[in-house]
Amino acid sequence: MKDITVRVYRFDPEKDREAHFETYTIEVNEGARVLHVLHAIHDELDPTLSYRYSCGSGQCGSCAVRVNGEPVLACMEEAQNNITIEPLNLSVKKDLVVDLLPTLETIASLKPSDSQKMPTKSDIDTIKPLRDCIECLCCVSVCPAMDVTKFLGPTAMRQEMRLALDPRDSGDRIVDAVREGLFTCTSCQACWKACPKEIEIPSKAIEKLRTLANKKGLTLPKHQEVAALVKETGRSVNRIEPTFMELVNAEVIEPTGPVKATIGFFVGCMYNMRLPKAALDAMEVLKRNGIRVIIPKEQVCCGSPLIRTGQLSFLDTLKKRNIDAFRFRGIDTVMTMCAGCGSTLKNDYKTPFNVMDISEVLTTYGIEPPARLPIKATYHDPCHLLRGQGIREQPRQLIRQVVDLVDMPSICCGSGGGVRSGNPEEAAALGKRRGDEIKKTGADIVISSCPFCEFHIAGHTDKPVKNITTVLLEGYKEKDRKKGNSKVT
Ligand code: SF4
Ligand code: SF4
Ligand code: FES
Repeated sequence: MKDITVRVYRFDPEKDREAHFETYTIEVNEGARVLHVLHAIHDELDPTLSYRYSCGSGQCGSCAVRVNGEPVLACMEEAQNNITIEPLNLSVKKDLVVDLLPTLETIASLKPSDSQKMPTKSDIDTIKPLRDCIECLCCVSVCPAMDVTKFLGPTAMRQEMRLALDPRDSGDRIVDAVREGLFTCTSCQACWKACPKEIEIPSKAIEKLRTLANKKGLTLPKHQEVAALVKETGRSVNRIEPTFMELVNAEVIEPTGPVKATIGFFVGCMYNMRLPKAALDAMEVLKRNGIRVIIPKEQVCCGSPLIRTGQLSFLDTLKKRNIDAFRFRGIDTVMTMCAGCGSTLKNDYKTPFNVMDISEVLTTYGIEPPARLPIKATYHDPCHLLRGQGIREQPRQLIRQVVDLVDMPSICCGSGGGVRSGNPEEAAALGKRRGDEIKKTGADIVISSCPFCEFHIAGHTDKPVKNITTVLLEGYKEKDRKKGNSKVT
């Protein structure tokens, strides 16, 4: 047995003007779950505490709550000392009990068709990963698109796709999904990471529904324009200034000191054509830290803007060209700087080489310490780096070496999933939310590691938004300045 202290959200609409937290210390068995702690509080300390549960074994979804801000099933989550237990981020009825009905009512049901056709084995295999939902609404509680639009949400999309795959259903699932907000999803992947059943809603439901919508001619015009540009030029944005690859004008960049590693660089459309300075800064940092960089000139767009918006007709051509560009040079590690490209190469390609984000490269091989800058910075986790690639600590490790870091909640900035081009009002509303969080930190600058985020956030904050490598390079310049030499200009 052990004592455990927890903070629990309390709100009784009949008595309380506003919610507050109560702190309880209670004796529980080793390995007790959060639900056991709630039972103990209810039985021994405060019988007025309200919470939901049923199966006690992760099957019914009733007990979903937030622990330290993250949605979990209380019956499956091991209780730790000093945790905070709150209701899901939905309308609260009392204490930890939220109102599930408004969302559950929007989840579509099967409309029986007259056809006698039954699902094939292959239909069932595809439907299966979408059928495991236990209606806990963890996914709904974290969806940014639902906060600022009328989007019905991730589990509603999961169900539309599940029914679209079922020959016994007669509903027009694609048209319904588009009407319900299919194109408002930012591809942030928060729903997948929150789902206790690990249902990959963004890739297995939303992108699939968008592909079916494309076949019906329902792709948003702005997304069609991007696809046409990629098809014509190999790039998802227009050339308006000299590109990174033109400015570098060499296939290999040699480091200044001994070579620690040789890597290929997948540049990505945005760093090549919109933010070339950030990519040039990255090259300086790699040069200084013993990394030889090979930049194949034939590389093209990774296809992420097409995959996220369901336009797949010439995706395989892009993939082949990119893979061949690195394979023919015998490159075994390819580095990305763009979170979206990295996530795409890691999750949507089958590459014969290893793919690493630049923060992984720099922390794996180690960096020369830069000078510390007298700056307070906050870091925006790009969704496709944090959730798409599971990279959280490496950027922070690098940032802490050069400036003071103050963390902020890891929320979506609204630039992904084709939302910035297709639904600019939604993108602006999410960008504003990101801007408000930045303000709360009191930071002097915002650091990120994704060109889409950097570009979008810059429009919603008055603080400078910089790439990690730009800040590291500033640290090196300061170090050189202090030493009185001019290694870096
Ligand atoms: S990926 Fe993000 S925006 Fe899209 S449904 Fe999931 S939580 Fe919502
Ligand atoms: S999809 Fe996952 S997170 Fe969403 S309601 Fe179903 S089980 Fe819960
Ligand atoms: S009580 Fe059923 S999932 Fe937790």
